[in-house]
Amino acid sequence: DEESHREVYEQLRQLVSTYPTVPSGLDTPYHRHPDGWYTFLPAMVSVMVAQRHFTARDTDIIITTFPKCGTTWLKALLFATVHRDGGGGGGVEDDAALAQLRARNPHELVPFLEIQVYVRDRVPDLSSLPAPRLLATHIPRPSLPASIAASGCKVVYICRDPKDCLVSLWHFHDAQRPEPRGDVGEEFRLFCDGVSPVGSYWDHVLAYWRWHVERPGQVLFMTYEELSADTLGQLRRLAEFVGRPFTGEERAARVDEAIVKACSFESLAGAEVNRSGTVELMEEPMRNAEFFRRGVVGGWPNYLSLEMATRIDEITESKFKGSGLVL
Ligand code: A3P
Repeated sequence: DEESHREVYEQLRQLVSTYPTVPSGLDTPYHRHPDGWYTFLPAMVSVMVAQRHFTARDTDIIITTFPKCGTTWLKALLFATVHRDGGGGGGVEDDAALAQLRARNPHELVPFLEIQVYVRDRVPDLSSLPAPRLLATHIPRPSLPASIAASGCKVVYICRDPKDCLVSLWHFHDAQRPEPRGDVGEEFRLFCDGVSPVGSYWDHVLAYWRWHVERPGQVLFMTYEELSADTLGQLRRLAEFVGRPFTGEERAARVDEAIVKACSFESLAGAEVNRSGTVELMEEPMRNAEFFRRGVVGGWPNYLSLEMATRIDEITESKFKGSGLVL
């Protein structure tokens, strides 16, 4: 009941407040989780509530990402793929899932466990949601609710060139400051030190990569760059992976192409709901437009010096060495 849920959160708030803190570059510090990653206190509490209370089912599909690596895009593509109905007799333009995507932000359609579900001192009962439940999270692999791996449900990870990720993250943070600073230097230093919204970019990616290598049938590993270069091919791969491959008939009717188009940066960013609407994240309204900045590969030279880029590439090389992962 409500009282006991509030109690759960309150106890965790007290516990997390004892964890060491580090400056985040924003107005509150990050706390350090015993598993070695950082985030703000309320988000860490929500992660811990999710760990205790989220029970995955084998039919679930969970998107896992490091922030700013293509989460919004992947949510849109997955939602449209899983809930497509081909528009009944009316053709792909009448597809019910695509209509939803025009009316609602992808974060409303595929919520984050720790940012939207386990918030406001609530422990919602998700058991009555129809299968497949589509959910998302930024939680690092070591702290993921154990039932996700145990259930055998599908997990889809997407990552991105860390240089573009950093630039995107910095814009995202800077837009949230009362006075944008317009300088990437501090964000760069924190990023290189692994002090990012869910800890080190490299640790996050590597842990999910290793899980994918161990369990390729459970964990799909995608990159923003591959998705940009061949969106249709990657969409088909995604559909296949989640057990909803496009049939020959659907391909002939261009259902898959319609999804690619509806989820393109231009379509999503241009939708009225994403231009003017908001979504509640961590109990605060966030402008949907913040999730659509440029949507391109390789935009980093506009913001990072060559020295910064070299430093990041060096870290990437040393961290990923021997893992088989090449970005
Ligand atoms: P940029 O800041 O480089 O433009 P996330 O969704 O994980 O928060 O990542 C946000 C990044 O994805 C932003 O990158 C955003 O512009 C980009 N993005 C959002 N929707 C997209 C889409 N439909 N196609 C391509 N990129 C998209």
